[in-house]
Amino acid sequence: MDGAMDDLREQFEAEARAAGSLEACKSLRDRWLARESGIVTLQIKRLRELPKEERPAYGQAVNRLRDHVERRLEELFAKAKAAAATAEFLDVTRPGFPYAVGHEHPIRRLQFEIERIFVAMGFRVFDLPEIEEEYYNFEALNMPRDHPARDAQDTFYLGASKLLRTHCSSVQVHAMECMKPPIRAVSTGKVYRRDPFDATHSPMFYQVDVLAVDEGIHMGHLKGNLDFFLRQLFRPDIRMRFRPGFFPFVEPGAEVDISCIFCDGAGCGKCKGSGWIEILGAGMVHPKVLRMSGIDDARYSGFAWGMGIDRVAILKYGVNDIRHFFESDLRFLSQF
Ligand code: DAH
Repeated sequence: MDGAMDDLREQFEAEARAAGSLEACKSLRDRWLARESGIVTLQIKRLRELPKEERPAYGQAVNRLRDHVERRLEELFAKAKAAAATAEFLDVTRPGFPYAVGHEHPIRRLQFEIERIFVAMGFRVFDLPEIEEEYYNFEALNMPRDHPARDAQDTFYLGASKLLRTHCSSVQVHAMECMKPPIRAVSTGKVYRRDPFDATHSPMFYQVDVLAVDEGIHMGHLKGNLDFFLRQLFRPDIRMRFRPGFFPFVEPGAEVDISCIFCDGAGCGKCKGSGWIEILGAGMVHPKVLRMSGIDDARYSGFAWGMGIDRVAILKYGVNDIRHFFESDLRFLSQF
């Protein structure tokens, strides 16, 4: 009797050794312990057929077999579950995959740097729309309809009275309309012109425009403001010079040069041997412009100046083609 049970036990052990996976454990359990037809179950059922005197010994032997199978199956299940868990193990301490971290676009960075310089001087930053009324872009800046700067060649018109702003100078009008003197205003952003897209032109570029209106403002204030700003933006030893220039919204107007940052004014290829680089337009706000925006030009005066930010970026970073800034090529942008 025990011999038969021992054979079964050995057979079970052989099958148990081959059962590695959870699936294999389940079928092993069904094969040996299933309610109706499990091998152990059938052995237990046989108990009833045996003569009375044989039952106790047989019962003990079959119970031992059942206990053994149950215990071994428990072990096998535990092992298979542990193995499955290890296979799915997530190592949260493993270093991550390297990924690229973005940063501010060089023009954006310069734009904010410029705004910060003016905020520190007490200027208010105006964030103005790129779609502008013709009035603010031209008329209120003393550029009547027949002015050459309004030539359709230069401007993207959007229907009857709207256009893509061609400069940031409209901040002068907006600031004077919504503030009373003393006014200190600065605005930076994109401007649009019907220009080709080549190494030195782009139909979209960036500008900054600055306005100060108060009693007794004169050219000296303009020079002082520019001198301070340009030294902060480029470097402390930068020099500047004013040349007469015409802009309809200022009188007198000036073109402003800085000493060449490449040769320190000695003369090189970048400054075409002159030692100077033209950098911005400036002037005293035209009395007509003050009047049109409701400022008493007998009492108040103001200065204004405007500059291309991309142009500064080209100089500061030594870039030879403006298109690099707008083509989103990471090989270029990741250098900044
Ligand atoms: N708006 C001019 C331009 O786009 C630049 C400019 C010149 C702005 C003189 C000014 C200024 O505020 O006073 O070329």
